[in-house]
Amino acid sequence: MSSFWSWYIAIISLANILACVWLIRWTAKKRPGEAAEHETTGHEWDGLREYNNPMPRWWLWLFYISIVFGLIYLVLYPGLGNFQGVLGWSQYSAWEDEVERVEEQVSPLFASYAEMPIPELAENDEAMQTGRRLFGNNCAVCHGADGGGRPGFPNIANNVWQWGGEPDEIRKSVMDGRQAVMPPMGAALGEDGVEEVAAYVFSLSGRDAPEDLVSRGAERFAAQCAACHGPDGQGNKALGAPNLTDDNWTYGGGLEAIKTSIRDGRRGRMPAQKELLGEDRVHVLAAYVYSLSAHEREQEAGSDD
Ligand code: HEC
Ligand code: HEC
Repeated sequence: MSSFWSWYIAIISLANILACVWLIRWTAKKRPGEAAEHETTGHEWDGLREYNNPMPRWWLWLFYISIVFGLIYLVLYPGLGNFQGVLGWSQYSAWEDEVERVEEQVSPLFASYAEMPIPELAENDEAMQTGRRLFGNNCAVCHGADGGGRPGFPNIANNVWQWGGEPDEIRKSVMDGRQAVMPPMGAALGEDGVEEVAAYVFSLSGRDAPEDLVSRGAERFAAQCAACHGPDGQGNKALGAPNLTDDNWTYGGGLEAIKTSIRDGRRGRMPAQKELLGEDRVHVLAAYVYSLSAHEREQEAGSDD
């Protein structure tokens, strides 16, 4: 607020209060010449006459008390333009105090969770309830309430990982964020090239595509894509390049979606949470994410035997 508007508001507020004082005094005063006790205003209707008595004392005092209260309030708290009040109270400082108070209560709990390894924490019901609440508040907007993802935002409730599903890898994804770069390949490949390599990618997950396109696409893939996605399309976790041979797609596994990914590129960004939530909360969240795929992880481990 510029100082002009600050003064403008402050002066109007004070002038209003002064006007109230004046009005009350004026109505309270017996004006000379208005002698008799029960003088009327001269208004009369159907036998009812309106008296012109001053207002009762107690009523006047209520007015004066509210005015004094108002003035004291304006000295103590923000209210007069930019003036912050002598107590230094603000909605923001009140909110900060509240956060600090809550933090004092919960931080020992989070600190004790931080000592526990992620797989162990993932089996702690109490911690996982906290994890679910944190996930709902901070992650569900993008990854969905159940972590199942939606176009552009990966499913993190299954055991398929772009950047790795080991406890430390998940923790790092959440702590520091991730920036994927799939470069746009349309210009390098040409529309025919996009068509061919898309047919090949489509076929990698066991679906039928025209033979001739697939075989030409395979050559292009080896030359242009294998560096990131691996020679057989299984992906590379260090780059966040996804496995293209499974049924799990971030941007869609239909032919058109695959072509768009190849032609225009993709740049998924997972925002870092370290500054926002602090390391201890991220630790609990990493355990929560780890717990979402626990069932699949066990099944896969079982089928290895
Ligand atoms: C520089 C490394 C790099 C190269 C080269 C590259 N990719 Fe990618 N690709 C990525 C990364 C990283 C992602 C993940 C993008 C994201 O998550 O936003 C990706 C994503 C994709 C996707 C989307 C997968 C999904 O789950 O929806 C497809 C399809 C794809 N790439 C195909 C290709 C093909 C075909 C080529 C070669 C023409 C290629 N990529 C070349 C790194 C690369
Ligand atoms: C603004 C949207 C957004 C929010 C909020 C968000 N994420 Fe993500 N997250 C993404 C995107 C996009 C990716 C994929 C990045 C890429 O393309 O590689 C991702 C990737 C991840 C990954 C890596 C997945 C893999 O396959 O390796 C994990 C783990 C993850 N997020 C967990 C979380 C958690 C936990 C939270 C809450 C603290 C969260 N995310 C909040 C958008 C978001």
